[in-house]
Amino acid sequence: MRILKKSVVCIMFNAAFYGLITNTVLAWSSGPPAYRTGAAGDNGTCNVDGCHNSYSLNSGSANFSITAPAAYAAGKAVKIKVAFSNSSGKKHGFEMTALDADGNRVGTFKKIGNTTQVISPGDAARELDKEDKDKYIEQSTKGAKKKSWIFKWTPPSDATDPITFYAAGCEADGKGTASDDYVYTTTAETNSSNP
Ligand code: HEM
Repeated sequence: MRILKKSVVCIMFNAAFYGLITNTVLAWSSGPPAYRTGAAGDNGTCNVDGCHNSYSLNSGSANFSITAPAAYAAGKAVKIKVAFSNSSGKKHGFEMTALDADGNRVGTFKKIGNTTQVISPGDAARELDKEDKDKYIEQSTKGAKKKSWIFKWTPPSDATDPITFYAAGCEADGKGTASDDYVYTTTAETNSSNP
């Protein structure tokens, strides 16, 4: 009987310890898993079951926008802004990718400063495939305190226009859970300046 009690206590302790580690080490507020922009070929958005699905997609009252140049020149990096406005959220986050008209993920993202991060294939927790290196950018831990983010995107030379930026955003209550947060999606298009 005593041994049984001991092992039950031991199992409970490990479960609690594991839960603590997971939540601390893999906090999604430090940047969500890859493939959550709502683009074709992604695994939905932040609003999937078990995540930020307290409210239906785009049912919040904030504005979620992408500001990107209407035209691009191959290989010439441009600045892109993702922003929330009219938001009462305490924390915010986003994830973005870019698809051409054939559905290929195109161009490469690069952070400016430390409020965003480009998801790396080496980051096991975020599960990005090697071939999608530099194709996904998101908020960082510091960036979750911001409502807008500016970063760079370098256009490809061989895409089929138009190229569409896909972003999913989370307007969160800052309570450190995935509940009671609103999720939004938006897109923006750009075309080559020398078709
Ligand atoms: C692009 C998609 C996503 C964005 C922008 C995002 C953003 C955020 C933000 C800003 C927070 C802080 C919430 C708060 O403190 O109130 C957060 C927390 C959380 N998110 Fe997400 N999230 C996304 C996708 C996901 C997904 C797909 C899951 C489930 C697999 C998830 C699970 C969680 C959990 C469990 C927390 C609470 C604990 C923590 O900080 O990790 N999120 N997320």
